[in-house]
Amino acid sequence: MTNTQDGDGAGRAAGIRSAWMPGFYKLTMDERVARIARAFELSRDEVASLHASGALPREVADRMVENAIGTMEIPLGLGLNFLINGREYAVPMAVEEPSVLAAVSFAAKAARAAGGFTAEADPQWMTAQIQVARYGDAGRARERVLEARDELLALADSLHPSLVARGGGARDVEVRVLPSPDGGEDVFVVHLHVDVQDAMGANLVNTVAEGVAPLVEALTGGRVYLRILTNLADRRLARARCEIPVAEMADRGASGDDVCEGVVQASRFADADPHRAATHNKGIMNGVDPVVIATGNDWRAVEAGAHAFAARSGRYSPLATWRRVDEFLEGTIELPLALGTVGGTLRVHPAARLALRLLGNPSAGKLAAIAAATGLASNLAALRALATDGIQRGHMGLHARSVAVAAGAPMHLVDRVAAMIVEAREITFDGATRALATVAGAAAALTDVVTGESHDLAHVGSHGR
Ligand code: MEV
Repeated sequence: MTNTQDGDGAGRAAGIRSAWMPGFYKLTMDERVARIARAFELSRDEVASLHASGALPREVADRMVENAIGTMEIPLGLGLNFLINGREYAVPMAVEEPSVLAAVSFAAKAARAAGGFTAEADPQWMTAQIQVARYGDAGRARERVLEARDELLALADSLHPSLVARGGGARDVEVRVLPSPDGGEDVFVVHLHVDVQDAMGANLVNTVAEGVAPLVEALTGGRVYLRILTNLADRRLARARCEIPVAEMADRGASGDDVCEGVVQASRFADADPHRAATHNKGIMNGVDPVVIATGNDWRAVEAGAHAFAARSGRYSPLATWRRVDEFLEGTIELPLALGTVGGTLRVHPAARLALRLLGNPSAGKLAAIAAATGLASNLAALRALATDGIQRGHMGLHARSVAVAAGAPMHLVDRVAAMIVEAREITFDGATRALATVAGAAAALTDVVTGESHDLAHVGSHGR
């Protein structure tokens, strides 16, 4: 593997001779850190950052994944002002992107003016897919599987007695015969829908898929290959809706009418153009993913499901749309949200447990409804910014603070340095380094006047290098 440059402008070489490290998993966490530190020539500070203890204890992280060497933290904030189905929520959101929390909090505030969000979720059905090859006559195989529906459901339930005791269990069987992609036999798939209650359900459903496969083989006379859930959880949709009084959308010089028109135009653009729809949906996921992450859920599954759902018509489309209805701007969103509030990571990650507690320990359906509302809020805030003075002003203002910190600004100078680089339209590491030297130089000169001392400012902006 070749050496790569640091991304922070330092140009310091960092690399590893070989990524092949047999037995790495057998080392203790400290041994792994030491090994990585040697291989990558980590500085003392870098090693210390791997040891930094946040909400997730290292011992827990070590049990969660293989080859653990530390934890990586991202800010956990609260999306404020949410009124969802008449209930107040401060929504925990784990996200590194500046402005997301401010944006959703703004949009939630605007939505409150007309009662906030209404949101709901389907029953929590996840779907197992069982692929059968060499099944012979597709019609006959389909018939035999559907005739055995009750037997298949009973077998699936027998694999999860405690789920059944909690009110969940297998609900339906479906057979799909899909046109051959390559001129060979058509693709034969059995779907088994399972109500997973408050679990995310991946493990439950995968056990079902594997457990019923022999029966499916016996019924079809074919050979089962894949047995796995689908992340296109389209039996597990969540929806949210809000109405914003047009006057609430006014922004500085722009009238509410004008801003609403811009948001509606943005929605039309996303409807018409998959290139725009992708970015539109990214703005939605800016709100959804942080909730998914904060609550210890699988955001890759949610992302996969959301985008597959967005493309369900054959053309990639927006997950949320906006239209004007009389004196209101009306927004709606619908997307699959496979979220759990019990089991898995949730049981072991203290921050995820806390996030759920902050949400009132919701059911999985309620959590999905909250995440959908957060996504709609995030979308609205982005479209409003885009419809007025663009995304950069607010976004870069916050980003500037991260850049100032990266350039080594001490906490009490971060805001001043950030303001200077925004003003100079130079929100870069070098710009912040120069601004910091100026600010620190002025501060030192002032101290000199008062104390008569001199200062070595060589370290300023060098980030300790
Ligand atoms: C940036 O993270 C998200 C936006 O690009 C979303 C959008 O364009 O709608 C601002």
